[in-house]
Amino acid sequence: MVNVGIVGATGYAGEELIKILLRHPGVKITYLSAKIDKPIPISEIFGYLKGRLEIICELPDYKRMASLCELLFMALPHTVSMEMVPYLLKENLKIIDLSADYRLRDIKNYEKFYNVKHKSPQIIKEAVYGLPELYREKIKKAKLIANPGCYPTAGILGILPALIADLIETDSIIIDAKSGFTGAGRKPDLNNIFSEVNENLKAYKVNIHQHMPEIEEQLSRFSKKKIKINFVPHLIPLNRGILETIYLKKKDKKLEVKEIISVYKRFYKKEPFIRIYEEKKFPQIKDVLYTNFCDLGFYTKAGEDLLIVIVAIDNLLKGASGQAVQNFNIMYGFNERESLL
Ligand SMILES: NC(=O)c1ccc[n+]([C@@H]2O[C@H](COP(=O)([O-])OP(=O)(O)OC[C@H]3O[C@@H](n4cnc5c(N)ncnc54)[C@H](OP(=O)(O)O)[C@@H]3O)[C@@H](O)[C@H]2O)c1
Repeated sequence: MVNVGIVGATGYAGEELIKILLRHPGVKITYLSAKIDKPIPISEIFGYLKGRLEIICELPDYKRMASLCELLFMALPHTVSMEMVPYLLKENLKIIDLSADYRLRDIKNYEKFYNVKHKSPQIIKEAVYGLPELYREKIKKAKLIANPGCYPTAGILGILPALIADLIETDSIIIDAKSGFTGAGRKPDLNNIFSEVNENLKAYKVNIHQHMPEIEEQLSRFSKKKIKINFVPHLIPLNRGILETIYLKKKDKKLEVKEIISVYKRFYKKEPFIRIYEEKKFPQIKDVLYTNFCDLGFYTKAGEDLLIVIVAIDNLLKGASGQAVQNFNIMYGFNERESLL
């Protein structure tokens, strides 16, 4: 039994972690924390936990984290965990950090896109980027996991097989991304109240979104080429789910969709959470909701430049907490699917 804590337990990602970990046979939740005025039973915040999890949620306390837990899930806004993690690693805790604080190796990009000075840059190189499809072997031995962002999870998984197989040009990648508004977190903000989001569709942070450098860094690292992308995120009036339509330019116009599908099938051959669609079938958000799956579909024709990849995930599961538990399962040698299927 692994004793785990969740910091940021009252947020959307924290809540999903509680739900998954409660049904995990190898886990005991021993500590919950958030930025709250006074300690309060978690079942008073989430009523459905009454009689199932009677733990007090409290303000972060390093000593209690270290004495009660072996591993911590940090589901905090970015810039918060970079202050806490150095102390926690010294206490020999393992960390799965869902924020962006340790995702970017390029500190300059972190500081530029998150508009803040990094407080523990010396630790960044210790962090393993927690995308199991790419880094499973490193995740097994990791002490600190930088769990990927939601848009990057879909974008990287959608592009990488074609890039590695050298099927696409690298100067014309376009990601048109759409996210439900739990992606913005639970904290109230005028931009994500119901009357602003409902019956509306809008683009935001066009080609300046903080997830762009994360996607570019991972694609560049893996392909050993300098990759630039164009990225247009949109907010859609749904609670959860991400759909990305990715436009790529084929190097060889003759390639048919069947050949593309077989490249992706080979690349993700043993992956438990990747589902590849056959020709003329395309993923949709409702088929991945409340699951840890990443669904991929393809369009191209022989004689055309264009390759379209469509990717769907649940932002709170494969895009956040599901992926975090997938990483946990890998770190501790559990079946990777445990509590996720
Ligand atoms: N939402 C997604 O789809 C998604 C996807 C991928 C990654 N992520 C990442 O996951 C992290 C959490 O996201 P979220 O959507 O769950 O955010 P959220 O709903 O805003 O939750 C943030 C949590 O952190 C707590 N918190 C804030 N400041 C704190 C502090 N100084 N000390 C202790 N606790 C503090 C909040 O407590 P109070 O509620 O009491 O303020 C809340 O429990 C973020 O870094 C986000 O980028 C989110």
